[in-house]
Amino acid sequence: THVEAPNHELVPHRGIKLIKGTHDPDDVDQIYDLEIRDSDVFVVTYPKSGTIWMQQILLLIEVKGDVTAISKLSSSSNAELMPWIEVTGSREAFITAPSPRMRVTHLQYQFMPRALSQKKGKVIYVARNPKDVLVSYFYFHKLANMLETPKDFDDFFEKFIRGDVFGCSWFKHIKSWYSHKDDMNMLFMTFEEMIQDLKSAVERISSFLGKDLSDEQLASVVKHSTFKNMKKIPQASYEHVPSHLFSHQMGRFMRKGTIGDWKNHFTVAQSERFDDLFHREMKDFPLSFTWDV
Ligand code: A3P
Repeated sequence: THVEAPNHELVPHRGIKLIKGTHDPDDVDQIYDLEIRDSDVFVVTYPKSGTIWMQQILLLIEVKGDVTAISKLSSSSNAELMPWIEVTGSREAFITAPSPRMRVTHLQYQFMPRALSQKKGKVIYVARNPKDVLVSYFYFHKLANMLETPKDFDDFFEKFIRGDVFGCSWFKHIKSWYSHKDDMNMLFMTFEEMIQDLKSAVERISSFLGKDLSDEQLASVVKHSTFKNMKKIPQASYEHVPSHLFSHQMGRFMRKGTIGDWKNHFTVAQSERFDDLFHREMKDFPLSFTWDV
C-alpha cells in the first residue's frame, strides 16, 4: 500500500515555526499549563544536538544499564519511550503517564510548562556547537520527509542563519533557555563534553537525577551509549523508522557523531560570517564551545 509522505510545510506560530501535520498549534499552547511532578524529566535540545543520545543515556540509567530491558519496552525507537512533548497527541498521553515521565522537546522556553520555573521537575539542556548542528541538520533534511529537502548546502546555510527551519534560530533557542536556567532545576550539558568524556558526562547526569548506580552499572550505561554501539541498536539509531518518514537511502540518522565536521562543509567566507553572527548574538552569554579537536 502507498503511504503518503508527511507534510513538510513550516507554520509560523508565536515566534517559532511548527511542522504542519506533526504539531498542532493549539496543542502546543496547552503545554504551558501542564502539571509537573518532581519526578518529571525534560531533555531540551535544538534539533541535531544530541537528543537521541540523551534519550539513550536516560533510558539506560533508568534500567541501571541493562540494555536488553530497553528493547523489551520498545521494539521501535527510543522516541516511543521518551517522546517529544510537542508532537500531536503526546500531551494527552503525558497527563496520565506513570512516573517517571521522561520527555524531550525542541520548543523554546516560553512554551514549556510554567511549573518548571517553579523548580518542579528537572530539565537537561544539551547544546552543541552550532556549526556542527547546521551540517548535521542539512543531512537530516535529506533523510527526514517531514523536512523539506534542501536545494544545496549554501541554500540551507542561509535558511539556518535566518532561523527559517523547524527549531527556529539556534541563538534564540539557547538564549531563551539559558537565561532562565537558575529558575529551574537545570543541568546544562554540551554535546562536545559528552564526546570528549562520556563517562564523566554520564556520572553528572545520573547524579543530577539522583540515581545511585554502581560502577558496573555506570560502565554499562557508558558502553551502550557510545556512537559505535548505538549504531548497532535499531531503537537507538532510528533504523526502524518507516520509509514514508525517513528516506533511508539518503543516509543514516547516526551519521558521523564527531566534532568539527563543519570544516568539511563551510567555506572560509561562511565560517567568518557565522563567527561574526555568533559573537554578536552571544556577546552577553558566557558560553564557549569546542569547535574542533
Ligand atoms: P551527526 O549528524 O553530526 O552525526 P539529534 O538526536 O538531536 O537529532 O542529534 C543527532 C546527532 O547526534 C547526529 O550527529 C548523530 O550522529 C549524533 N549522535 C547520536 N548519538 C551519538 C553518540 N552516541 N555519540 C556521538 N554522536 C551521536
